[in-house]
Amino acid sequence: MIIFKKVDDIKNYISEVHKSSTNIGFVPTMGALHIGHISLINKAKKENDIVVCSIFLNPTQFNDKNDFEKYPISTPADIDLLIKANCDILFLPSVEEIYPDGEAGIKSYDFGYLDTILEGAGRPGHFKGVGQVVGRLLDIVQPDSLYLGQKDYQQCMVIKQLLVLLKINNIKVHICTTYREDDGLAMSSRNRRLTESQRSVAGVIYQCLVSIKTKQNTDSFATVKMQCEELLTEKGLLPEYIQLADAETLRILNDFEPATNMIVFIAAKIGAIRLIDNMLL
Ligand code: PAJ
Repeated sequence: MIIFKKVDDIKNYISEVHKSSTNIGFVPTMGALHIGHISLINKAKKENDIVVCSIFLNPTQFNDKNDFEKYPISTPADIDLLIKANCDILFLPSVEEIYPDGEAGIKSYDFGYLDTILEGAGRPGHFKGVGQVVGRLLDIVQPDSLYLGQKDYQQCMVIKQLLVLLKINNIKVHICTTYREDDGLAMSSRNRRLTESQRSVAGVIYQCLVSIKTKQNTDSFATVKMQCEELLTEKGLLPEYIQLADAETLRILNDFEPATNMIVFIAAKIGAIRLIDNMLL
């Protein structure tokens, strides 16, 4: 695996690669890699000639300073995992490489409605930051395919919208299945911050998603939502939202609509750790 830290170096390498008809698959990450991330690398490996992974803890997408400061960093272990997964290139830039002109040079994208709901409502400025860094990374890496996790479904929609805003139509977006622990907890870098007792109850988020999916034909959404809020609270979690939406537009639904492709989202806090998950119904 080749590791690039400088934008100019990786750009030069990629422009050479593009001279032959070589397909590039790209997996952007913030590091603290787990099997969920590696599943994206594996899929990208199967479908492309070269796979580029980036590790960049993007400060502009953290609306919560504490979350940024406490975000786990494990670069040497990440590098080992990527080598084992046969990743071809790791891009590991500094903040100065990504934002050379500081705040002044940072582009701002307007994601409209998408930025007003769910994570957009709860984390002001978060998706603007995601747009900034992904726009910059795509310009550097120039991939043919981009691999994203369904775990961050709204982020996938925002990034698809970013491609529309940037008039990029030659990058194929692949939304990959959420990788889970044995108890259903979606793998996440933030899980590392859970204490043993917090970790032992965290699977309840997945149980709630499954129960909503199971009861969609027999109960109202309001009823199952209330049951889930009670269950989460009983286990010591603080539910932030449980919301049902149209999976194509993210229009929020008040009740199940059998004719619509639906998705349900949960955000909940365990202590100071905020976890999100979703399930297509
Ligand atoms: P990060 O949280 O590191 O996630 C990197 C990618 O891995 C995202 O596309 C995310 O959806 C995916 N992912 C996370 N957990 C997963 C799981 N359990 N199963 C499958 N895929 C999973 O998302 C970000 O970083 C950043 O916002 C980023 C897009 C890199 C921009 O900074």
